[in-house]
This record gives sequence, structure tokens and C-alpha cells, in this order.
Amino acid sequence: MKKTAVSFTLNNEQVDVLVEPRELLIHTLREKLSLTGSHIGCETSHCGACTVDMDGISVKSCTILAVQANGSELMTVEGLASDDGLHAVQEGFMQEHGLQCGFCTPGMLMRSYRFLQENPNPTEEEIRVGLSGNLCRCTGYQNIVKSVQYAAEKLQAKEEG
Ligand code: FES
Ligand code: FES
Repeated sequence: MKKTAVSFTLNNEQVDVLVEPRELLIHTLREKLSLTGSHIGCETSHCGACTVDMDGISVKSCTILAVQANGSELMTVEGLASDDGLHAVQEGFMQEHGLQCGFCTPGMLMRSYRFLQENPNPTEEEIRVGLSGNLCRCTGYQNIVKSVQYAAEKLQAKEEG
């Protein structure tokens, strides 16, 4: 099949890649760009394991064609940590035991990252609704909520300090 050239910014780096017109973004990320942090769970937009950030919104990369990402700014879980260390959401999931098997975690982290920019001071209920597109089969969600609360407090303290 004829390939199409696609360019985007990915974790702050310019990327040019050839993709098939029918290729899903999750496959481009994992198979062509070797970024396997984003997981494939359902491949039908239900589980959220493939969540990435695209132009400032959370998207499920199994429902986006790679060609649709042309010209966009993408961030995957690999881009969360910086030279300053782990991102607050990563620290939160670590401190509050927000994971068990870890399969949902990359998607949870990416959704939490964006959610806390949409709502920096959320209630428990708002966290549950904000992350409702991401499923976890292990934790019962309680510690995920606590992880996001931890991250929210940490981000607020950083802002104030
Ligand atoms: Fe994309 Fe489940 S793999 S939502
Ligand atoms: Fe296992 Fe969430 S930690 S699916």
C-alpha cells in the first residue's frame, strides 16, 4: 500500500514517519517509533490504555489514524518525566500505590496529566468522572483517585512556591 509522509512533534522532538493511510496512531507509536509505553488493551476506544496527549487534549491513540496526527503536538508517557525528575502524576501513582499489574498505568498517567490541567483542584467525584474513560481491572480505583489527589496537591504547592 502506498505510504504517506507524516510529521509531528513527539515528546518535544520533530518526527517524520511514513505511514499507511489506514494505520492507527498507536501502531505508529509502538511499532515504528518504538515507544511501547502506550498500551493496546481493547483497540476499540473503551479501555484508555492507549491514551496520549494530542494538541492539549487526551486522545485514545487506537481511535486516531496516524495521518490525522500530521502537524500535531503529541506527548506519550515517555515524555512525562523531565530533567527535574518524575512528573507529579508519576510520583503520585508511586506514593499512593495507584497500580498493580501496571497495564492501565500509562493511559492513567497521561489522562491524569491532562485532567489536572483541565481541573487543577478537583473533588474526588470529579477525578472519578475525569478518568472514567480509563479502565483498571486491578485496583478498584481507590488508590488511583488518591494518586491524582497527591499529584494535584503537589502541582498546587509547586505553583504557590
Ligand atoms: Fe485504545 Fe483500549 S486500546 S482505548
Ligand atoms: Fe492492572 Fe490497572 S493496574 S489494569
